Amino acid sequence: MLLHKIDELRSVRREWAGLSVGLVPTMGALHEGHLSLIKKAKETCDKVIVSVFVNPIQFGPSEDYDKYPRTLDRDTELCQKEGVDIVFAPSPDEMYGGGRLSNDTLTYVCPPFFYVNKLCGKSRVGHFDGVCTVVLKLFNIVQPDYAFFGQKDAQQVVIVKKMVKDLNVPVEIIQCPIVREESGLALSSRNKYLSEAGKKDALVLSAILNNIKLCYNRGITDVSALKETAYGFLTDKHDLEYLEILDKNTLEEKKNADNDSIALIACRVDGVRLIDNMYLGG
Ligand code: PAJ
Repeated sequence: MLLHKIDELRSVRREWAGLSVGLVPTMGALHEGHLSLIKKAKETCDKVIVSVFVNPIQFGPSEDYDKYPRTLDRDTELCQKEGVDIVFAPSPDEMYGGGRLSNDTLTYVCPPFFYVNKLCGKSRVGHFDGVCTVVLKLFNIVQPDYAFFGQKDAQQVVIVKKMVKDLNVPVEIIQCPIVREESGLALSSRNKYLSEAGKKDALVLSAILNNIKLCYNRGITDVSALKETAYGFLTDKHDLEYLEILDKNTLEEKKNADNDSIALIACRVDGVRLIDNMYLGG
């Protein structure tokens, strides 16, 4: 069932009292990564809702909000095949009213500076305010028991878990592993922007992460030394934005990596900003 209105969703949701409900928040252009979250939700919950909403307030003014792929018919079909109960696809007006989208006029959720002043938050100022605001709104609209997020966006899931804990939101966050192409490239809706050559150049992200993990497994724990192993992989086709090795739960910096460490990378390839990450332990 495809629903566009909050009231319609609420009235169907009310009929599900006593059943467990899972929410998979997405911006659509669904791929196998999203489908893995949906499959996990189907396994875990009696009812599954997938939201498809390209959230304007998490895009910066020079980002790709307008050209972000919108494929609702195909997304709805894929969801139907997976046995999703509701696809919730509200318009921006339905979510935010017709007014100006700014924190002068709207209540925003602002995650702590320590969590946003690094990694993607550093170049995408205000991005995680937009993410937390829409995710909390979706939680309030859907009132799910479980919500499913991908490790692909590792900083996002840490920040969402922090919001849920700090604001006592009654939902359990389930984190799902990264789905990759056979080549190693992490699936992303933004891969659509890559040329064939760009797709090959993009393999450097997973190659760097795999190599860091290999070096860690061979006994190198010094974070600077591990980071330096990346430079042999980079060419003038790659514009590295960040490479960090942090604590996977707290995003704290460490001098030495351990089994709780995560390596995270953002790199522009072919004009497309790509991110990837890998746990060093297990
Ligand atoms: P979107 O980029 O559509 O991603 C929706 C969910 O799919 C996120 O939890 C993301 O981590 C997960 N995902 C994406 N690629 C994946 C992959 N290759 N393997 C596993 N999971 C993957 O993230 C967002 O949308 C938005 O910020 C949102 C949370 C919906 C708020 O607007």
